[in-house]
Amino acid sequence: MNRPLWRQPEFWTTVAAVVVLSAGHYAAPTHDPFWHDLFRRLYYLPIILAGFRYGLGGGLATSALVSLLFLPHVLMTRAMLPRQASEAVFEIPLYLVVGVVTGILSDRQRKANESLRRAERLKTLGEMAAGMAHEVKNPLAAIRSSAQILAGHVTGKDAEFAGIVVSEVDRLNQVVNEFLDYARPAPLRREPVRLSAVLDSCLKLLAPVIREKGVKVRTVYPEAEAAVSADPAQLRQMFLNLILNAVQATEGQCGIEVSVAQAGRETRARVKDNGPGIPADKLKTVLEPFYTTKPGGTGLGLPIAQRIVAEHGGRLLLESRPGEGTSATVILPGG
Ligand SMILES: Nc1ncnc2c1ncn2[C@@H]1O[C@H](COP(=O)(O)OP(=O)(O)OP(=O)(O)O)[C@@H](O)[C@H]1O
Ligand SMILES: [Mg+2]
Repeated sequence: MNRPLWRQPEFWTTVAAVVVLSAGHYAAPTHDPFWHDLFRRLYYLPIILAGFRYGLGGGLATSALVSLLFLPHVLMTRAMLPRQASEAVFEIPLYLVVGVVTGILSDRQRKANESLRRAERLKTLGEMAAGMAHEVKNPLAAIRSSAQILAGHVTGKDAEFAGIVVSEVDRLNQVVNEFLDYARPAPLRREPVRLSAVLDSCLKLLAPVIREKGVKVRTVYPEAEAAVSADPAQLRQMFLNLILNAVQATEGQCGIEVSVAQAGRETRARVKDNGPGIPADKLKTVLEPFYTTKPGGTGLGLPIAQRIVAEHGGRLLLESRPGEGTSATVILPGG
C-alpha cells in the first residue's frame, strides 16, 4: 500500500480497463444496442476493483472518471437512439453509488483487519511476557540478592559498584514489570473512587521527584466530587505515568496542573504541563508501545495509560502545542 500509485498493478489494471471499455464503447456501431449495453455494464468491473483496492477515494474517483467518459457518449447517441440514451443517463448515479458503497465497505473491512492484527500482536506480546517473567525475573532476583550480599562484604569503590548492580537490577525489574502490566493486564477490581484522591496519592508518591526537579504543582478539584466506579490501583498506575511524563517534560521550568472536573455524566481528570510539547505528527506515535525519546524510557507509560482508561470504558485525550505544553485528559464515564 506504500508503493506509489504508478507502481501498483491494480492501478494500471483499473486505468487499462476504463480506457479499453471506453474505446470499445465509442467504437461500437451506434445502431446496435447490444454492444452499448454490454460496455455500459462492464464499466462496473473497474469501479468495483478500485473501490476494493483503494477504498472510498478509489471507488469515487473511478466512478467519476467512468461517468465523465460515458456522458459524451450518451449525448452523442441521443439523436439516434433517444430511448436508450435517456435510460443510459440513469447509469451515472448508479456508477457513483456502486463506487461509494464498495469503497466504504472495503475501508470498513480494512479497519476491522487492522484492529484484529493489533489484537493478535497484543496476544503474542502476552505470550512473550509469560516466558519473560520466568526467564528474566528469576535470574534478576538471584543477581540482586548476590550483589547485596557482596555489598555487605566489601568497602569503598567495590561497595559502590555492588550498589550500581543492585540499582540497575531494580531498573530492569521495573522494565519487565511495566512490560507485564501492558501485555497481561490484571482484571479490574471496581469500587467507588474519587479521582482527586487517587491523584493526590500519586502526587505524594512522586513528591521526591517533583521536589528534585523544582516543579510547581497546582491542583484544581471540584468542591463536591462524585465517585466513579473504577479500579483504584490501576488508576494510580495510569496517573503515575501521566504525572511523571509531565514532570519529566517540565524540567524545572514553570509547573504542572492536575485537575478534576465533572462534565455531565463524565468525570475528567487532566494533567497539564508547559513543557516542550509533542509535535503534531507524533501525537499518535507516542501511544504506540516502545516509542520513547528518553534515554532510560521504555515507551510503555502512555500505552499502559491508554489501555487502563479503555478498560474502564473511558478515553484518553492527548493534546499538545509544541513550545506551549501538553495536556493528557482521562475521561471516565459516571460521576
Ligand atoms: N507531557 C509530555 N510532554 C512531552 N512529551 C511527552 C509527554 N508525555 C509523553 N511524551 C512523549 O511520549 C513518549 C512516550 O511516552 P511514554 O510515557 O509512553 O514513555 P516514556 O515516558 O518515554 O517511558 P516510560 O514512561 O516507560 O518511562 C515520551 O518519550 C515523550 O517523547
Ligand atoms: Mg512515561
